[in-house]
Amino acid sequence: MRQAGRYLPEYKLVRQKAGSFLQLCYNPELACEVTLQPLRRFDLDAAILFSDILVVPHAMGLSLDFKEGEGPVLQTVANLPDVERLAFQGSFEQFDRVWETVGLVRSGLAPHLSLIGFCGAPWTVASYMIEGGSSDRKRALAVAHENPIWFQVLLDRVVQVSIVYLLGQIRAGAEALQIFDSWAGDLPTGLLDRLVSLPIKQIIDGVRQAYPGFPIIVFARGVAKSHGLIAEATSANAVGVEEDVSLRDVLGQLTEKVAVQGNLSPQLLLGSEASLLAGVKSVLDGVPLSRHIFNLGHGITPPTDPVMVEKLVAAVRRYDEELV
Ligand code: CP3
Repeated sequence: MRQAGRYLPEYKLVRQKAGSFLQLCYNPELACEVTLQPLRRFDLDAAILFSDILVVPHAMGLSLDFKEGEGPVLQTVANLPDVERLAFQGSFEQFDRVWETVGLVRSGLAPHLSLIGFCGAPWTVASYMIEGGSSDRKRALAVAHENPIWFQVLLDRVVQVSIVYLLGQIRAGAEALQIFDSWAGDLPTGLLDRLVSLPIKQIIDGVRQAYPGFPIIVFARGVAKSHGLIAEATSANAVGVEEDVSLRDVLGQLTEKVAVQGNLSPQLLLGSEASLLAGVKSVLDGVPLSRHIFNLGHGITPPTDPVMVEKLVAAVRRYDEELV
């Protein structure tokens, strides 16, 4: 989940220096710096590239802005001509800068720490392209249900560009990838196969054609009982799990080779230390270490005190040591 962000004073300083969130994403030195900041503070095992899932539609030609206190504002698509104008082949100048960041991070990261690259999943990215920002997704859902021709063309183009984006991240030094389908939980189970599993599988196949067996985590947020089906359909190595779902239940849906990642509620970082520690214990209890990547169920929120993150990491390490 999100490691960098407004809860870290050192991040806010760099972001100010960059001018805006987007300028930060496209400034390799500064994006490298904010990727590494959490690793300097906390005893983590992996870094996640600092970028955003909306870099892909931006590279495809849609204008993008992040408005203070409002979140992303993305140019929208609404019909076939709009979709046909989107770039999906050739080179993308936005990607060059992100790939440069990946290279800088890999050389600045201690050798025993891993670097996770990422992209958004086609359903979530397409929903932003239809809605223009973080909204209730009603328009995107209506389009998904009506399934016009342009919607399928849109998903296919996002798949193609995402593969290019991820292959470049691997070439530059990413050692695992995570695909974020933050809005998968909006869809009825009957649409999960076509709109979540299939396009993610196409991305994974495209990546593994060049890098066989490359480790990939699929985070389909909010699909509770369908994690197993999605993991099987996509051949993910691990599934990211949202909060308030039992990891043991999800493990029960998976074959032995698939791990879970998650799923402490980020809200617990805003409460007392006692409730945080109880939450950590309930996430870890009964989940085998060999099949678990400890993480939050969603991103860290801006009011979080970094000291609480430190306490969280220490608690996970203590639990680790008691078991091994
Ligand atoms: O540690 C990291 O920062 C990793 C990099 C990362 C970011 N976004 C940076 C970011 C990752 C992996 C993401 C993924 C992302 N971006 C998702 C999927 C995961 C999820 O959260 O569900 C989505 C849906 C987005 C789109 C997006 N980006 C939104 C809706 C927002 C605004 C929300 C907010 O918190 O203001 C962003 C902004 C964003 N992306 C921030 C960061 C650190 C916050 C902006 C800031 O702190 O300056």
